[in-house]
Amino acid sequence: MAKMIRKTPVNLILIGFMATGKSTLARALAPGLGLDAVDTDDLIVERAGKPITDIFSDIGQEGFRDLESGVLEDLINSERMVISTGGGIVTRPGNIELIRSLGMVIWLDASIDVIIDRASKSDDRPLLQTEDPRRSIEELMAGRIELYRQAADERIDVNELSSEELAYGIAESARFWFAASH
Ligand code: S3P
Repeated sequence: MAKMIRKTPVNLILIGFMATGKSTLARALAPGLGLDAVDTDDLIVERAGKPITDIFSDIGQEGFRDLESGVLEDLINSERMVISTGGGIVTRPGNIELIRSLGMVIWLDASIDVIIDRASKSDDRPLLQTEDPRRSIEELMAGRIELYRQAADERIDVNELSSEELAYGIAESARFWFAASH
């Protein structure tokens, strides 16, 4: 896990695999910390003017990653935000460094079973629209887990925790971290 020493932290960044609850948690956390919530997928959709599934079918995953990296670069001077990110943001070289320079990075980690269960409730994730979603998740996770580890200041196991418990725990940790570095 990366060491927690850097310039003044000004944001909280949530990373992790699809369906681990990043955007929901960002929205739940932000008001209590006096921060604004922003989601990289939402910014991409806004910029492209179409949903993620259409972006993937029109310009492919690489085109989506270009947009994603562009959105991340534009956040670099942001302050006082809880930033939730797409699960694959760590895969582009350079993005981990950008993420780490933004503030405190929290990795939401879930088991494959929990991810399958949650992801099956929506069909807006093109990378999981496959014949064998469990296998797709396992393969993607295997290629990403080390990247999440590299990017994160803290890993949180979300399997057993309710969103209220998670929000409470992360808010405590963030308050401590923000206070300690001012
Ligand atoms: C992706 C995750 C999605 C979205 C896109 C690709 C990924 O975001 O960015 O479908 O590669 O893991 P969530 O993690 O919010 O589902």
